[in-house]
Amino acid sequence: MSIVICFNNKDPKPWQEALQAKLPNATIEIYPNVTDPKAITFALCWKPESNILAKFPNVKVVQSVGASVEHIIQSQDLASDCVVTRIVDDRLSKDLFEFVLTGILSHIKRFADYQKAQKEKQWQQKPYKTIQNTSIGILGLGKIGTHVATKLAQVGFTVKAWSRSEKTLENVSCFHGNEGLINTLKNTDILINILPLTSAIENILNLKHLSQLNKNGYLINVGRGEHLVENDLLTLLNNQHLSGALLDVFRTEPLPEDHPFWKHENITITPHIAAITNIETASDIVVSNYKSLSNGKEFINVVSIQKGY
Ligand code: GLV
Repeated sequence: MSIVICFNNKDPKPWQEALQAKLPNATIEIYPNVTDPKAITFALCWKPESNILAKFPNVKVVQSVGASVEHIIQSQDLASDCVVTRIVDDRLSKDLFEFVLTGILSHIKRFADYQKAQKEKQWQQKPYKTIQNTSIGILGLGKIGTHVATKLAQVGFTVKAWSRSEKTLENVSCFHGNEGLINTLKNTDILINILPLTSAIENILNLKHLSQLNKNGYLINVGRGEHLVENDLLTLLNNQHLSGALLDVFRTEPLPEDHPFWKHENITITPHIAAITNIETASDIVVSNYKSLSNGKEFINVVSIQKGY
């Protein structure tokens, strides 16, 4: 009954320490330094190498350290009795809302334009939008998307949201299905993508869909890089249908040095920091699932491997 930590692009040490403090008797090892691969029953993962879990034939639970699981489901050949779980933490929803709100307000109040103007010592007043006259579209109404949609509506934005299955939310116009997607995009100033990644919605942020947004529309992508057709975004920015984008996630992370997004004056890049898992609170979820494995209790935050989220 040991735990293995398989991370890429994330430091495993703080996780090992936090878990060891809460589970003093457990063996918690960081891949590739595993003494007995057959003893591993629980794997804690972030973007694990392709099929790495095949090295641990007795793994029963694969726990993501983030809200997402596509990095596990799409990279591993999981045994049919394997359970995949994720982090669901109010902290993640709150942090994501704060990130998105900052992005929206700095966009409608034109902070990026003033930063540029300041560099050139230009004193030039520009028109701005208000909360009341800004319409927002949200793609994805999972736990985090629901929180963001509800809070933005409370702040006073006009909010529409799209999800795969039908949902209802107070003060948010909810849509689903193909037609619902177009309704969410039309008459929308700012589109926020919070979808999980599945093969059905890869490339959903494409020319056809993004050109439905209002002229001077703005994109905030906090879902996954694979949702976005990068050249389509560049086309819509360069022909000025869209006025800008705030991107926190990318097809390749870290974003390669020669990527055109770095230099685009209307793209703001953040390094996948919109909502970072809080180790202190999230490790409680991991501990709970690890204990459930030994005492036969129900796991929390189990995902559907078939649906992919
Ligand atoms: C972040 O992207 C996460 O999956 O938690």
